[in-house]
Amino acid sequence: MADKRLWVDELQPGMRLAAPIMLRGVVLVNEKSIVTKKMIEQLKMHAEILTVLVEAEILKRPLSPWERAVRQTYEETVDKIKNVFTATRETKQVPMNDIVELTSYTVSNLLTQDFVLHSLKNLNSHDEYTYHHSVNVGVLCGVLGKWLKYDDDMLFSLVLSGVLHDIGKSQIPLEVLNKPGKLTADEMAIMRMHTVYGYDMIKDIYSIPNMVKAAALQHHEKIDGTGYPFGSRESEIGDFAKIVAVADTYDAVTSNRVYQKARSPFSVIEIFEEEMFIRLDSKICLPMLAKIKNTLIGRQVITDDGRRAKIIFIGQQANDDMILQTEDGEFISLGMKDYKYFKDYLA
Ligand SMILES: [Fe+2]
Repeated sequence: MADKRLWVDELQPGMRLAAPIMLRGVVLVNEKSIVTKKMIEQLKMHAEILTVLVEAEILKRPLSPWERAVRQTYEETVDKIKNVFTATRETKQVPMNDIVELTSYTVSNLLTQDFVLHSLKNLNSHDEYTYHHSVNVGVLCGVLGKWLKYDDDMLFSLVLSGVLHDIGKSQIPLEVLNKPGKLTADEMAIMRMHTVYGYDMIKDIYSIPNMVKAAALQHHEKIDGTGYPFGSRESEIGDFAKIVAVADTYDAVTSNRVYQKARSPFSVIEIFEEEMFIRLDSKICLPMLAKIKNTLIGRQVITDDGRRAKIIFIGQQANDDMILQTEDGEFISLGMKDYKYFKDYLA
């Protein structure tokens, strides 16, 4: 197996060096040495040492405790939402106790770090998309609500909007809901009814705030009036519906679907920068874009000539440049849209 070149701050104790670490012609650490915490700290003090070659087999490190906890909570939450959808399909009643419980669980356990945005990307699959999507949109609504500085009560309601937004899909025939491939015009019309079905099922439940009910009905409306079910315009669409629409778009772009491979956060930036003054709400998209850009700083890409490079800077305006540093220390300035020339994006 080929060895792998890592940035110094990617090194983990326990890895083994595949080549000596040299500094100005002198061997600093011998080949085959095991990386220690102290070694990493010392290497970080040498600005000239950017990358280190390590044995690839030892790179398969176990998940960190935080990654394991996120994964477990996520999978448990998906199982719970699956049970909620199944029960709702059979009884046509929404089991509110279960939903409130899993919403609190999601809020408290998955929203601990902004980083969760990138973690979800690796967890979803196109199987059982609706369940994963409901959890993802719930979590993304929570992340957005935190960025928008919502208080705890509003945050809970917002996550509830995300978790419940597609509950009407429990009333869509499974052969339409799970159809692999493109829907016909008739099937699309049936699918679009999930907004109305969802609203009808929850509209008389006293404990659900009106903004959450509106989000189920309006999350596919667009501010220019081109959405459904009513073609409502900006001032007629509730704030939660607008936030769910943004989270919905983010998850649809970055998830694996039957007919589309997951795309990178760079695609999200491009789509939001194009849509935010036309179809999506700019008051929500702008802070989201700023945060997404910040979470990309320090992440890595493979350039079109096959080099690993770290993202050092991304401008906050649409079409601003981003600056990368390659593994051999070279700085490259690229336009935002040049991400299309990346061979890969490493989450
Ligand atoms: Fe939907």
